[in-house]
Amino acid sequence: MSHVLSAVAWPYANGPRHIGHVAGFGVPSDVFSRYMRMAGHDVLMVSGTDEHGTPILVQADAEGVTARELADRYNRVIVEDLAALGLSYDLFTRTTTRNHYAVVQELFRGVQRNGYMVEQTTRGAISPSTGRTLPDRFIEGTCPICGYDGARGDQCDNCGNQLDPTDLIDPRSRINGETPEFVETQHFFLDLPALADALRRYLQGREATGTWRPNVIRFTQNLVDDLRPRAMTRDLDWGIPVPGWEDQPTKRLYVWFDAVVGYLSASIEWARRTGDPEAWRAWWNDPAALSYYFMGKDNITFHAQIWPAELLGYDGEGDRGGEPGVYGRLELPTEVVSSEYLTMESRKFSSSRGVVITVRDVLERYQPDALRYFLSAAGPENQDTDFTWAEFVRRTNDELVAGWGNLVNRTANLVHKNFGEIPAAGELTDADRGLLELTGTTAFATVGGLIEQHRQKQALAEAMRVVSAVNTYLSDQAPWKLKDDRDRMATVLHCAVQAISDCRLLLSPFLPFSAQAVHEVFGGTGEVSPMPQVREVDDLDGGPGYPILTGDYSTLPRWESTPVVAGTPVGPPVPVFTKLDTAVVDDELARLAERAQ
Ligand code: MF3
Ligand code: ZN
Repeated sequence: MSHVLSAVAWPYANGPRHIGHVAGFGVPSDVFSRYMRMAGHDVLMVSGTDEHGTPILVQADAEGVTARELADRYNRVIVEDLAALGLSYDLFTRTTTRNHYAVVQELFRGVQRNGYMVEQTTRGAISPSTGRTLPDRFIEGTCPICGYDGARGDQCDNCGNQLDPTDLIDPRSRINGETPEFVETQHFFLDLPALADALRRYLQGREATGTWRPNVIRFTQNLVDDLRPRAMTRDLDWGIPVPGWEDQPTKRLYVWFDAVVGYLSASIEWARRTGDPEAWRAWWNDPAALSYYFMGKDNITFHAQIWPAELLGYDGEGDRGGEPGVYGRLELPTEVVSSEYLTMESRKFSSSRGVVITVRDVLERYQPDALRYFLSAAGPENQDTDFTWAEFVRRTNDELVAGWGNLVNRTANLVHKNFGEIPAAGELTDADRGLLELTGTTAFATVGGLIEQHRQKQALAEAMRVVSAVNTYLSDQAPWKLKDDRDRMATVLHCAVQAISDCRLLLSPFLPFSAQAVHEVFGGTGEVSPMPQVREVDDLDGGPGYPILTGDYSTLPRWESTPVVAGTPVGPPVPVFTKLDTAVVDDELARLAERAQ
């Protein structure tokens, strides 16, 4: 049994999240966390909304509100949507809490004390006509990497690369088109070259385990070969104040410096809220603890390079040595689990262009498990994949409804009509034993092993193969033809109910809502599939209150077959899944066309 940190990427609070987002960070991290808890580990799953930096400012400008108002608005929307999707966070918080500010500033000071945060003069843009600093997001030009003409001074939305304004070819102000003037400005830089050897050693150690996805480890190792110091402050007035520069309110910490520290600050906030303020240390100070970071591929650099570098600097493990600060020696990520991109009907998701379907849209019209099933079965785990409505409907109807739902329904019907309760089994045949061996033993090992290796698509396919095997068993044994042999009928139905109970557990990390429903169809009571709760809380240090997501997941069953109890009453079944009308495809495509430009 280990302490396992599930560190889930922090969504920007600049709008509602779409299904591409939750395909990357949300559902996979929840499947993993639910499974690891069932396997007996002490899981701490944390995240929150990412509320500083350019993405928030750009959208606040667009909506004509302040950054804070914007962050408040979408923090709430995101919290509600992630709850509706059943994502089992121990704490989902936000980056505008006082706790987060304090933890980020401690990390900054620790890195600085050890000599890895160095002040340098660099060139920043100002508007020649007003003399004021021109924030990165207000500068536009040609991307030096992909040649896209609409790249911004902070990043290129076409190729996804992070940029500095001075990298742009033909830079111009988005406000009035003038060419910005670059003047000297002071910033703090994370001294990546002084941390490069330590980073390289860390990555070599991780590569040796063979557990990281090859593309992630290779990409990161290439980055380490070409490291320059990187600015960790910005000329901005929205963000966390820079320790030592409190007298300069127009300089703030870079959003990515603060966001990744969120994993630690959220762990600390969680511990403080449980009443044992030091409890977070079991996940951060113990070299035996495991940590898994879940994100889309555009986040790899920040999780496999910048965050480990911040931690190595804080721990004092770069070329200049040093000592850890008050948090002690902090552990680096065990694994960076990154997914590829989801596209929407063959196009890139784009909220601004209306090529989008938000989590809320989906959950208003479809079951959360239908979305979770699609994203787990056909999501971008290892390669870019496409979401299509036709495929969503097909998978829901053919696999969830006709495969799993129908097995549950027809078995429950047979049990209800013929016995009214789960019948006791008589003597087992080879077929019965073979079935129960597969569902009750082999499948737990196979499916669990695959989830542990982040091969969730294969894990789900394997679980669904087991469902098919149970369907085949039922057709072969045909209990409906056994009216004259009630003992045999009882045995077959008992075995089928047991196999279904096993399948329910095997599928429960993927389909937590229907796990509860199936449990109840067969007369089960009590909570077997706990859900996150939205709770309004006070800021721990006197800031404004906010909604968090949290939950008690201790009622999750163990990852093993649990014997069903003969004599448990079984009533007439209520269907677990809703079959979709094929008109859904045309309706949704029409909606999309209406919205997209
Ligand atoms: N907000 C970032 C994004 O959506 C992710 C931040 S992950 C964090 O791409 F860990 F840095 F918070
Ligand atoms: Zn580009």
